[in-house]
Amino acid sequence: MVLPYNLTACHELLSRLLRPGDLALDATAGNGRDTEFLARAVLPGGRVFAFDIQPFALDRTRQRLHHAGLGHGCELFLASHADLDAFLPASARGHLRAAVFNLGYLPGGDAAVITRPHSTVAALQALESWMAPGGLTTIMCYLGHPGGAEEGAAVEAYCRGLDWKRARVLRQGFLNEPRNSTILYCVSYR
Ligand SMILES: C[S@@+](CC[C@H](N)C(=O)[O-])C[C@H]1O[C@@H](n2cnc3c(N)ncnc32)[C@H](O)[C@@H]1O
Repeated sequence: MVLPYNLTACHELLSRLLRPGDLALDATAGNGRDTEFLARAVLPGGRVFAFDIQPFALDRTRQRLHHAGLGHGCELFLASHADLDAFLPASARGHLRAAVFNLGYLPGGDAAVITRPHSTVAALQALESWMAPGGLTTIMCYLGHPGGAEEGAAVEAYCRGLDWKRARVLRQGFLNEPRNSTILYCVSYR
């Protein structure tokens, strides 16, 4: 189909941007698909930092990276993305080329453990000083599960509040997607 699903569109955009040697952040490692995608784009020479609050998720991510032979270029943090200031190396400040938020709950995991508006927005705010000029943050929101619509609204409010001179935000979604509607926000920093 000529119009790609949001997750595909997100990866296509990131593929155009990322190069070996870049630094990237996966704010919600989950099953590790996005971490692996980022690692393939920035290695060799680059680095991926990945956060998740569930040990189970980081185990899955670690295994996935190990099988793909990409583990050496990734640092996994068992912590909330809201606390990223405390975990990222100081040398990365202002140099992250991409950051990926794939919100909601872990597929195949505990559906009660979801990303939350407060910590998601706190992470997005903290991230502003870590992003490189020309960098891109993608935020995939799922509106269909309990709490998803509230989180989507908080992300949208945050994005609307960004100064046009500092960042541009693209919002993409299918108007007729039946359930579990997804919205992709792409924040492009100047
Ligand atoms: C939709 S899944 C991510 C999917 C993942 N990117 C992948 O490629 O498989 C959302 C993940 O966010 C994690 N999460 C929830 N709250 C979080 C927080 N405050 N900080 C970091 N991760 C969080 C959940 O544990 C879950 O694994």
